[in-house]
Amino acid sequence: MESGIPFWFDGVEAPVYPMLDEDLHVDVAIVGAGQVGLHCAYRLQDTGLRVVLLEALRIGRQATGRSTAKITTQHGQRYAALVEKFGRDGASVYAEANAAAIAEITRLAADMEDGGGLEPRDAYIYATDESQARQLEKEAETARSLGLSAEMVTDAGLPFPTAALLRYTGQYQYHPYRYMCELASRLRIPVYEGSRVTEITDGSPITLTANGRTVTAQHVVVSTQMPVVNEGLFFARAFPFAHPVVAAPLPEGRQLDGMFISSGSPSHSLRTADMNGRTYIIAAGPEYKSGQTEEEQGAMDDLRVFLEEAFGVGAPTHAWTNEDFRPMDGVAFVGPVKSGGNLLIATGFEAWGITQGVVAADILADHIMGTTHPAASLFDSTRIKPMAGASEFAKGNIQAATHLVGDRLLKRKAVSLEEIATDSGGVVDDGDEQLAVRRHADGSLTALSATCTHLGCIVGWNETDRTWDCPCHGSRFDEWGEVIAGPAVSPLKRRDVPEADDEGA
Ligand SMILES: Cc1cc2nc3c(=O)[nH]c(=O)nc-3n(C[C@H](O)[C@H](O)[C@H](O)COP(=O)(O)OP(=O)(O)OC[C@H]3O[C@@H](n4cnc5c(N)ncnc54)[C@H](O)[C@@H]3O)c2cc1C
Ligand code: FES
Repeated sequence: MESGIPFWFDGVEAPVYPMLDEDLHVDVAIVGAGQVGLHCAYRLQDTGLRVVLLEALRIGRQATGRSTAKITTQHGQRYAALVEKFGRDGASVYAEANAAAIAEITRLAADMEDGGGLEPRDAYIYATDESQARQLEKEAETARSLGLSAEMVTDAGLPFPTAALLRYTGQYQYHPYRYMCELASRLRIPVYEGSRVTEITDGSPITLTANGRTVTAQHVVVSTQMPVVNEGLFFARAFPFAHPVVAAPLPEGRQLDGMFISSGSPSHSLRTADMNGRTYIIAAGPEYKSGQTEEEQGAMDDLRVFLEEAFGVGAPTHAWTNEDFRPMDGVAFVGPVKSGGNLLIATGFEAWGITQGVVAADILADHIMGTTHPAASLFDSTRIKPMAGASEFAKGNIQAATHLVGDRLLKRKAVSLEEIATDSGGVVDDGDEQLAVRRHADGSLTALSATCTHLGCIVGWNETDRTWDCPCHGSRFDEWGEVIAGPAVSPLKRRDVPEADDEGA
């Protein structure tokens, strides 16, 4: 089984871009080449502006390339809640903007050599008890009243009993990595990979540092999923969560006609994808808190048992995890970090950033071009909106704050060296410091400081992806401590492996 490598990366010939090795002066610098960054670059490339795209690793391989890649206005049960929080007008703007994003993705995919793997599929939410069924009825009514094609149906061919099914027609699924590689190859602007932006200084112009080079720009789009800027404190306004994802061949005679998500918990999200003449099920399992090793393993176990019981699916061919950020009120933050500024961000898509990412790209591109997108005020990045949903948000942030103090001072995650299995990792006490220790497949040990380079929380081992993940604001580091995902921009520090005698517990 491929552990930590998404199904989508198999067999795709990705374009390769150079590393930044010169200073640049541009009109717009876009930082991060995922769904937001690539679409924003595409929108701006023929405007006469000098645009550059800087990617820390490889294009398209982070959240977007690790998603289940459903292109839909069905964002779980969102519309009744949106009406409550933003009124009918706000919910309607959300629905229309995301419907327009579907149209944009399908238009772009139609021009691609293999159509970006785009396939029309209905998107279903299924309820497994009567209380969930009643909520679905309400959601269906609200969605319909907003002009969405949502209706209750009695059967969708699922191999397990359901109490109710809400179907959205006119939706799609795609191959996120092929699509992004194709989109990138259509860009006629400079694209740099291996160019992590480590410093952003707001001003006029804004100054960026990457690979020791300087880029100055009138506008900067920070499309790094969680912004790598402290301004706006977005890491304290949208908190991280993660899901396990697997791919496995669907057994003979089994079918899944549509994209599905459960209404209640544990959450299960399902779709299919074809590769080399076989149909695979791609499934995401229950949410877990980033950086919590046991929760991550529990969620992965739940998912595998569910797939075996429901579909007779055997061992997955691919297993990985993916992370996203939940805003306080159900709508992403998109726009300037401060009113009237030229430093722009987009974050908080809450696991529905395939369409919202395109909406964000359009809002930001319009802003740069001096026009106002119809959804700009709904997604306003400077809003402070403590309302329904704020209690869950507060819970997540209290948890983050607890990690900052608790993990660091109480060292509650420490294990002994012996407890770290081969090809695994664990946090070990070494007197004054906690260390992130990795026992490699050959039995050798390496150690890093377990202190996250963002704000000092203690990272936890991710058994599936073999990464060190931070529970506080979602930074991720590879097994050697290099940054995979921000808000951190610097690697975990190298340390000597502690003596076995000195181990703490
Ligand atoms: C399990 C799971 C399943 C999901 N499935 C769906 C789905 O089916 N449909 C849906 O709508 N949404 C889905 N999502 C959500 C979706 O994947 C994300 O919301 C979306 O991909 C975010 O796009 P992005 O461009 O903001 O981030 P990314 O795709 O992560 O792009 C950010 C890029 O910035 C780069 N970067 C980071 N830091 C720096 C730096 N300092 N300098 C330069 N570059 C940097 C990264 O390397 C990365 O390439 C899912 C999420 C999860 C967790
Ligand atoms: S991500 Fe903020 S402390 Fe680690």
